Amino acid sequence: MSETAKIILEGKEYELPVITGSEGEKAIDISNLRGLSGYITMDEGYKNTGSTLSAVTFLDGELGILRHRGYSIEDLADNCTFLEVAYLLLKGELPTESELADFEHKITEHTLVNEGLEGMFKAFPTGSHPMGQLSSMISALSLFYPKSLNPHRDEDAISRTIIRLIAKMPTICAMIYKKRNGHPIVFPNNYLDYVTNYLNMTFGQVTDPNYTPDPVIVNAMNKLLILHADHEQNCSASTVRMVGSSQSNLYSSISAGINALWGPLHGGANQEVLEMLEHIKNDGGDVTKWINKAKDKNDPFRLMGFGHRVYKNFDPRAKIIKKACDEVLEKLGVNDPVLEIAKKLEEVALSDPYFVDRKLFPNVDFYSGIIYRALGFPTDFFTILFALGRLPGWISQWQEMRLEKQPIARPRQIYTGQAPREFVPMEKR
Ligand code: CMC
Repeated sequence: MSETAKIILEGKEYELPVITGSEGEKAIDISNLRGLSGYITMDEGYKNTGSTLSAVTFLDGELGILRHRGYSIEDLADNCTFLEVAYLLLKGELPTESELADFEHKITEHTLVNEGLEGMFKAFPTGSHPMGQLSSMISALSLFYPKSLNPHRDEDAISRTIIRLIAKMPTICAMIYKKRNGHPIVFPNNYLDYVTNYLNMTFGQVTDPNYTPDPVIVNAMNKLLILHADHEQNCSASTVRMVGSSQSNLYSSISAGINALWGPLHGGANQEVLEMLEHIKNDGGDVTKWINKAKDKNDPFRLMGFGHRVYKNFDPRAKIIKKACDEVLEKLGVNDPVLEIAKKLEEVALSDPYFVDRKLFPNVDFYSGIIYRALGFPTDFFTILFALGRLPGWISQWQEMRLEKQPIARPRQIYTGQAPREFVPMEKR
């Protein structure tokens, strides 16, 4: 007999189905509870609420496990290219050699962006944040491809949109970088692999056709993109699914995901970490002072890059990035003083009961910013790199939501406002 849960409300017993996932995770299906009893469940921030069944990514925060389509993040980061992982996320299986070649070829056919899109840069004020620019540009893509607006009309158009997004995202990210520096845009070079092409469009110059990024940088970038490729139902992926559930088009759903990622508690933390480390350094480098500030409940300061909603042991991505970070800094001969501050912070926090008791560990953003800086990216550009990596995950989550025909996302609430009252005319207020 299948497992059920019993709930007693006002003396009446209700039996609810239990759902078991392929890794043994359990959920009580409460979708009919309101219909049966009039009760809803309450869970601000969805700390204990499953929003979907999903076959894309498995995560065990207690054991520090992250797997995409069954493959461990460690194996993927060590052995794959970013596009191989993107293919895996999107299609559910690792590609064969010819499938990967075909996927890469399709992407190279769409790397250019419409010249009209470049005009948008004229409207952005100088110094505007790259994430705001990116979400606007991705949203604007929907205006250039009106056939993609209906996510249920044409499967070929959807497939093309997915390829277009993966192909154009690096081009747009690099354009944002070039425009902020006032430099001419470097067009995509379809003879380069995805990561090298992105680095070439970013750090190459139109005057230097022989620019070749250091293989150390290419490898680090490839790994970083893989480590960010998906993370199940996080804030931005849930946003993409939520926006998509209204049958809004894929470009606007991804644009919404970019905006959700921008926040400092999510992807924006990588920028915040570096700014925090710089701040601590300029303040004299007294790490204990800042640890105490983070512990003080009357002080809004938080140790950025520490803590995670689901990881309560360690963040497996942070483990891989920490190693990559050491390698990159050593190979590039970078001696960054903020790294010393980072190491001290980590050491003190990991042995402090406040952080230990609350299971607060360095997360992926704690180290990624240090690598991005070593690679030459400006601080406010870091979250763009997170978005570039996360794109295949967002698309896979959107695609799953669409193909499973999930209903429009529409949470309920418990109203705590005024009881009905008589309208007061203006002259009597
Ligand atoms: N510094 C100091 N205290 C913290 C921190 C921190 N970074 N993070 C959590 N806490 C404390 C918090 O004050 C609370 O203490 P108490 O129980 O005494 O009230 C307790 O730990 C639990 O925190 P919470 O805010 O209830 O946990 P949450 O699951 O709602 O938030 C988080 C998770 C990631 C938003 C939070 O840990 C945080 O703000 N971290 C800093 C921002 C950051 O690094 N974000 C990147 C996350 S990884 C990238 C990604 O996947 O998005």
